[in-house]
Amino acid sequence: MSWDILIKNIKGLAQVRDQNVAVVAGRAMAVLPSIPNSYLAMKDGIIADFGSMDNLLFQHATQTIDASGCFVLPSFVDSHTHLVFAASREEEFVMKIQGISYAEIAAKGGGILNSARRLQQASEEELYDSALKRAHEIMQTGTGAVEIKSGYGLTTKDELKMLRVAKRIGRDTPLTVKTTFLGAHAVPQDISKEEYIAVILNEMIPAIAHEELADYIDVFCEQGFFTPDETERIVEEGKRFGMKPRIHANQLHRSGGVQVGVKTKAISVDHLENIGEEEIMALKHSEVMPTALPGAAFFLGLPFPPARQIIDAGLPMAIASDYNPGSSPCGNMPLMIALACIRMKITPEEAFNAATINTAFALELQQTHGSITRGKVANVLITKPIPSISYIPYAFGSYLVSKVILNGKVL
Ligand code: NIG
Ligand code: FE
Repeated sequence: MSWDILIKNIKGLAQVRDQNVAVVAGRAMAVLPSIPNSYLAMKDGIIADFGSMDNLLFQHATQTIDASGCFVLPSFVDSHTHLVFAASREEEFVMKIQGISYAEIAAKGGGILNSARRLQQASEEELYDSALKRAHEIMQTGTGAVEIKSGYGLTTKDELKMLRVAKRIGRDTPLTVKTTFLGAHAVPQDISKEEYIAVILNEMIPAIAHEELADYIDVFCEQGFFTPDETERIVEEGKRFGMKPRIHANQLHRSGGVQVGVKTKAISVDHLENIGEEEIMALKHSEVMPTALPGAAFFLGLPFPPARQIIDAGLPMAIASDYNPGSSPCGNMPLMIALACIRMKITPEEAFNAATINTAFALELQQTHGSITRGKVANVLITKPIPSISYIPYAFGSYLVSKVILNGKVL
């Protein structure tokens, strides 16, 4: 018997959970269990063993990595992205700099509708090629599992095209991919909202379910987009076809998104820039994962979600990138963690828990991802030599990942 990979002399092996922990909430989020001066062994793509260097007796491995001075963490789970898109939107970025708001740009046919026009013109191959580049980019910054949404197709054919591309990314790369149908992202210009909702309910959901293209269903519940009642109708129909809800909630207004997420038993409610006591109380009586997307709040200059209040209320919290061309053109999870610490005043330990265990739970990957636990998928990252784990968000923007191992293979 021999291990495939042995990492030894690790300065700190972080997010070690001997017994699988599904969610960390409230005060428990402040604890990131770690083993100093440690080793980690992998076999057949699975975490086989770990512990203190003092207890490392068996040393036979095909590949041995010396991680002196470095930290090892489970790879990040990014539970909210729009990774498949046809074109960037830096013209709108410049408009926003000049003072035009995201909502104004959207109302003029920019925003999501702009991305939809470009995506409708792109072939499946073109979309795949650009999405594959982004997939490689996020793996380099330590992401090992990712959720990818549709929502820039806005016709049945184009929504299917997006989801097929997302599925292919999961097959062709070491990333674990979960897919979400977000037909209710915006209303196309040539059709009324009622007509479009009928298309979503009667055409899109059955077609997507038939090809088994989506694990989840999402709605942009927001003023000017979809109301809570419309959201409920759409996600309930998705549920009938086996897609569990996750909701774009309370990004621009107190839209009722959180309440409808709780009511429909959503897996997660994401964004949360505009929530208060009432939404936090609603979440307390639910199993829904509150998810902050600090990249979007930062990029759009919105207030950040009240993460401190959420955690202090005893709730769990997750952090994802929202990687998309309009509101967060960035899938860099270490940077999201930095933004969360700097702007939402959560500690590095809370932020790492939010971006690993809790996002794994939000993608129903808690059995296989999100922590260093025997039997879980061997998805880890090795940092460059750094003084501590807190150095990662502190030195925001520095590239501190030296190696990524996914499914037991070094990238
Ligand atoms: O999560 N808010 C809605 N959807 C995306 C942005 C979409 C876009 O602007 O293209 C988001 O922020
Ligand atoms: Fe989003």
